[in-house]
Amino acid sequence: MLTLGIESSCDETACAVVRAGKEILSNCVASQADLHAIYGGVVPELACRRHIDVIIPLLMQALDEASVTLSQIDLIAVANTPGLIGALMIGLTTAKALALAQNIPFIGVNHVAAHLYATLMEIEGRINFPALGLVISGGHTALLKLTSSTDYQLIGRTLDDAVGEAFDKAAKILGLPYPGGPNIEKLALSGDPALFSLKAGQIKGRPLDFSFSGLKTGVLYASNGIEEEAKPHLAAAFQETALTDLVKKSLKAAKQEGLFQVIVGGGVSCNRRLRGLFSEIAPELEIFWPDRSLALDNAAMIAGMGSRLYAQNGRGDPLDLEAVAIMQFST
Ligand code: KG4
Ligand code: ZN
Repeated sequence: MLTLGIESSCDETACAVVRAGKEILSNCVASQADLHAIYGGVVPELACRRHIDVIIPLLMQALDEASVTLSQIDLIAVANTPGLIGALMIGLTTAKALALAQNIPFIGVNHVAAHLYATLMEIEGRINFPALGLVISGGHTALLKLTSSTDYQLIGRTLDDAVGEAFDKAAKILGLPYPGGPNIEKLALSGDPALFSLKAGQIKGRPLDFSFSGLKTGVLYASNGIEEEAKPHLAAAFQETALTDLVKKSLKAAKQEGLFQVIVGGGVSCNRRLRGLFSEIAPELEIFWPDRSLALDNAAMIAGMGSRLYAQNGRGDPLDLEAVAIMQFST
């Protein structure tokens, strides 16, 4: 079974071909980072236009690199939620058009859950479900209880900024280029986090939810009139505060739900300090990290998860399936 995956939910256009839900034959990503860099964040209208320009050539490239033709594809999988509505619609419409033209099924995939599938693709046999899922990306911060690789329940989420978004905004305040995560991490290497006191948001009565907008404002105030040589300290303090909050809330969720295997997905999982903090603060947890090539937005995770869902449901989605911008978890 060959699945063509399509991803266009934010600022990466991606197409991939995956065999039998796990074997990645091609994984092509066209990043738009250059396009949005001067704005310090994603501009939705520009993202949509770039998706339209590159999606068909990228699709051809994915088929080419996998050494298959479109007529050999059995299923089209596409991220239809959550994300920028216009951006999602471009991938979804492309997927529907291809499915209709080729007379093959297509299936919509939840992008956030697919971030966890990206990690599971490699290590699924080592997980004793239920397990805890932690999705940390530019658009999402979520804790999920996974009862299988495709069934999940939301148990915590950000109420404002996503953690990756907070990295991007803090980077912008410090004059670092977009995407900010890797640049903050680099600058923080030479900083002392104890030199600034910052706080991540704690929400009364909702111990597993996140809030990073106050932390971002904290960085803004602390950066007022800051000397160049103090910037690494502020970057380190921000990083330490944001990441410690992720680890502590993951540990709290793990204890509450009795889940000690944690599957991590999304771009922020590339951060090395996060790995260090998990072993320092939560050594009792067994953490599974995505391969670097699958941590950031990609279509292999969409194809993989779509193929699993199709096998489970025995059918694809109807052609009137809609793009949904906000995160809704029905399973
Ligand atoms: O998963 P992803 O491609 O995006 C969404 O699905 O939204 O992740 C991108 C995010 C960006 O916000 C970027 O700054 C962050 O991941 N990121 C990092 C690191 N590498 C990427 N954040 C912290 N440390 C890193 N090393
Ligand atoms: Zn993502």
